Amino acid sequence: LHSVWLDCDPGHDDATAILLALHCRNIHLLGVSTVHGNSDAQSTLLNAARCLQAFAAPESVKVYPGASKPILRSAQHAPEIHGVDGLGGVEGLPPLSDEGVLARIVTSSKAIEAIADALRKTWMDGAGSKISIIASGPLTNVALFLSVYPELSDGIEQIVFMGGGVGVGNRTAVAEFNILCDPEAAQIVLDTPVPKTMVPLNVTHQAIVTPAIQARLVATPTPLRHTLSTLIRFFEDAYKATFGFDDGPPLHDALTVAYVSCPELFKCKRYRVDVELEGKHTVGETIADIWDYRRADDTWGPTGKNSLVALELDVPAFFDLLLDCVAKCDAV
Ligand code: BDR
Ligand code: CA
Repeated sequence: LHSVWLDCDPGHDDATAILLALHCRNIHLLGVSTVHGNSDAQSTLLNAARCLQAFAAPESVKVYPGASKPILRSAQHAPEIHGVDGLGGVEGLPPLSDEGVLARIVTSSKAIEAIADALRKTWMDGAGSKISIIASGPLTNVALFLSVYPELSDGIEQIVFMGGGVGVGNRTAVAEFNILCDPEAAQIVLDTPVPKTMVPLNVTHQAIVTPAIQARLVATPTPLRHTLSTLIRFFEDAYKATFGFDDGPPLHDALTVAYVSCPELFKCKRYRVDVELEGKHTVGETIADIWDYRRADDTWGPTGKNSLVALELDVPAFFDLLLDCVAKCDAV
């Protein structure tokens, strides 16, 4: 069983990551934190609370507010992909006035304190089990957490983040959105000596929600399936209009949770990865040293091959997992 913390910026595909984190058999979701990204920090916080409620999270799973801006830069959002509030076009989520939604939101402690508490309880005081941190938005919260609580990093099993691309971007020719939003945070995370897996566009673009998958999703009409199909349709239209994707949208963030649950669905290579922080045309690019020019060592930190990079996905098995989680959520 993997104890998991999910840091996210919902976001259509983040919502599917939340669903998987709640219903994958071998994942125990400890808590959720939110960050600026697809929308402003207040919207992503409320969206996460609404998703937890809609996806039948146990009452113990709460959401904590995180950073509203990157470490050095100003915040940028993606209204053309996710709508102004981050979950454009999604029908059937509980309203913000819903008592259950409000009860999810903790304002007395911030994201990084909540992650620290979870680590103390689960790893230091508890059964000694480590935590996997999954990040599906800009890496600001994770970088701040690692900087403020370095003594807790030994309790991190792995950090799995959706972000970056090897030779491909989606916000500039070479920069992916999550990394471009806070490149300094991404470099801090990459320099931290704990095992990491980067889930870049190269692999997330394989997870296309085709018409055949959408048909399987709505084969049984339930309120949850209706919500998810409106989510996918909005995302599909955005991807068609912005990138010319004709066959459906890529479900980027869901792959991070699938990786923790079923790493055997992925083919990964371990590389030295750095983030371009200054380039004229390349700020936010993730540079994976695929020929090992740097002669990096075998550590996960600043001199080493610091990250696994997921490059291939067993696509049918991934969508079976997703639809299995939908069925489980429907049965709650
Ligand atoms: C990433 O950016 C956001 O639009 C998505 O939620 C995903 O995390 C893809 O580049
Ligand atoms: Ca995201």
